[in-house]
Amino acid sequence: MAEPVERNLGLDLVRVTETAAMAAARWMGRGDKEAADQAAVDGMRAHLSTLDIDGVVVIGEGEKDQAPMLYNGERVGTGRGLQVEVAVDPVDGTTLTAKGEPGALAVIAVAEGRGLMYAPGRLVYMDKIAVGPEAAGLVELDAPVEHNLKRVAKAKGKDISDLQVIILDRPRNQIYIEAVRRCGGRIRQIRDGDVQGAISTAREESTIDVLLGIGGSPEAVIAAAALKCMGGELQGKLWPRDDAERNYAIDDGLDLEQILTTNDFVGSNNVFFAATGVTGGEYLRAVDFLGDRVVTHSVIMRSKTGSIRYMDAHHDLERLRTISSVVLD
Ligand code: FBP
Repeated sequence: MAEPVERNLGLDLVRVTETAAMAAARWMGRGDKEAADQAAVDGMRAHLSTLDIDGVVVIGEGEKDQAPMLYNGERVGTGRGLQVEVAVDPVDGTTLTAKGEPGALAVIAVAEGRGLMYAPGRLVYMDKIAVGPEAAGLVELDAPVEHNLKRVAKAKGKDISDLQVIILDRPRNQIYIEAVRRCGGRIRQIRDGDVQGAISTAREESTIDVLLGIGGSPEAVIAAAALKCMGGELQGKLWPRDDAERNYAIDDGLDLEQILTTNDFVGSNNVFFAATGVTGGEYLRAVDFLGDRVVTHSVIMRSKTGSIRYMDAHHDLERLRTISSVVLD
């Protein structure tokens, strides 16, 4: 017998990312990435506290002593409802926002039970590979780039020269850039925002086939949540920057050789993801300030059903201000 229809928490979560995006977008192009991030954190937290969830932040703004809000371990929600773990990135792309460049998103992922990997302390980077549904199960992070690209190309009925690989533009990723070029693949280098980069490998409308390279660890968990909903795959491996981080990992019992899979990042099968565009771009349009109204563009995903909804919301600024103290000025 079919299970009864359950509440889609994503429909509540999108209000959280909408608020974060509206608050951050006020700072677009104003050269202050900390202010943009703080505005988004305030917005996100104000809304999260109203949700009927019994939540704990496992990927947040950092350790408690460094982050007064949305810190790792903070309890969020009313305490009623589903027990969940929460991963937030109030703005993925703070520099993009500060410079007014496309690609910044406000994102949140929530998983039932002990569903998400905890923030790996000081190890802020991971080596990653992400692919969409056609190539899920066919790539291996440790395999040579050419091997993986051949497999993706075959799965998608393409030549390697047709593939587009998205890579964060960082010196540490030069090795990947050269490897892709050597085997004839094409590359999209991005300044920031590898959550969106990973998601783009699984979107039907996108021309991106693979994400490669070293980016943030928290972003790996959040992107894995989205890819789990979309049927894609993300693998990651901790990438210590120096001996201090290597020793820290060893002392903490972390396995630096382990290749983490989508299911390691996101253990729960009941996962919800929401994102709202901050500065716009190919995926989700920017927050649009229209005088008395603000328009937001979001996506909502759910792993159990695989549903992906796009939602445009028109917010009446005056009325919003009377019911919420969230910073929109
Ligand atoms: P922020 O918005 O927090 O700056 O993160 C943007 C981002 O580009 C992520 O998408 C990516 O995973 C990470 O930074 C890479 O880190 P770094 O900028 O230190 O190379």
